[in-house]
Amino acid sequence: MRHPEAYDDPKATALAEIKGQVTFKDVTFGYDKSKPVLHEVDLDVAPGEMIGLVGKSGVGKTTTVNLIARFYDVDRGAIEIDGVDVRNLRLEDLRSQIGIVLQEPFLFSGTIAENIGYGNPGATFEEIMQAAQAANAHNFIVAKADGYDTSVGERGNNLSGGEKQRVSIARALLHDPKILILDEATSSVDVETEKEIQEAVVRLIKNRTTFAIAHRLSTLRNANRLVVLDAGRIVEVGTHSELMDKKGAFYDLVALQQQTSEIIGIRE
Ligand SMILES: Nc1ncnc2c1ncn2[C@@H]1O[C@H](COP(=O)(O)OP(=O)(O)OP(=O)(O)O)[C@@H](O)[C@H]1O
Ligand SMILES: [Mg+2]
Repeated sequence: MRHPEAYDDPKATALAEIKGQVTFKDVTFGYDKSKPVLHEVDLDVAPGEMIGLVGKSGVGKTTTVNLIARFYDVDRGAIEIDGVDVRNLRLEDLRSQIGIVLQEPFLFSGTIAENIGYGNPGATFEEIMQAAQAANAHNFIVAKADGYDTSVGERGNNLSGGEKQRVSIARALLHDPKILILDEATSSVDVETEKEIQEAVVRLIKNRTTFAIAHRLSTLRNANRLVVLDAGRIVEVGTHSELMDKKGAFYDLVALQQQTSEIIGIRE
């Protein structure tokens, strides 16, 4: 087994100008090798393309995106960026190209400005503010008594879920990666906040290869293709309308979500 940090290679410079093609080649992976969670996943994503990953809870959506940033390595097959196996890239270089907006945004107990600037130590206050504006976060930030100096508290506890998401979008905008991973929160936010987050997401995905795990159908409308996972396998790939016409796995998921929304009274 090769230790990525120790692998030094002039490819680092080449990677600084990646196009953002991401290819899964026959990828099989399990947290326990004897129990695969993903099976023979094949997927070729073009630079700038947005993929919506959908499927029921536990089918392997988060696992799929975690493999791109090498939080884990595949057991079989390979993941390539611009045709280069990610295992042949320096971990630092790979991750500098990937922006991640997580299901549970990672915030640390510093100020809002520090949290946005995390990962970009050289960023000026002006740049941080511009990112916050594009993320529709600026207004709620300046409405707080300490503005950008507001402490977010332990794990971001002083901020609401929708605020945390926008801080994390601002961080990703500032980071400006070629490849973007959005693992969307399931927690429902009010309609106005939802709209602000959606606008921010549209700005964020522009010119980036995006993998969006979306629980809300409104996010999926921006996707070029949807990939439906079931029990760790890709069962359908297509545009929203193709998959709706097909009346298969995706159609069933949508029907299920509509039923659930009616029962618990949320609107899509
Ligand atoms: N760190 C881990 N260690 C062991 N098993 C894990 C780990 N993370 C996830 N799993 C298991 O792998 C499978 C796929 O999980 P994954 O998190 O990829 O699902 P998901 O599709 O993202 O679900 P959700 O919609 O609930 O977020 C599940 O059976 C889960 O229990
Ligand atoms: Mg998940």
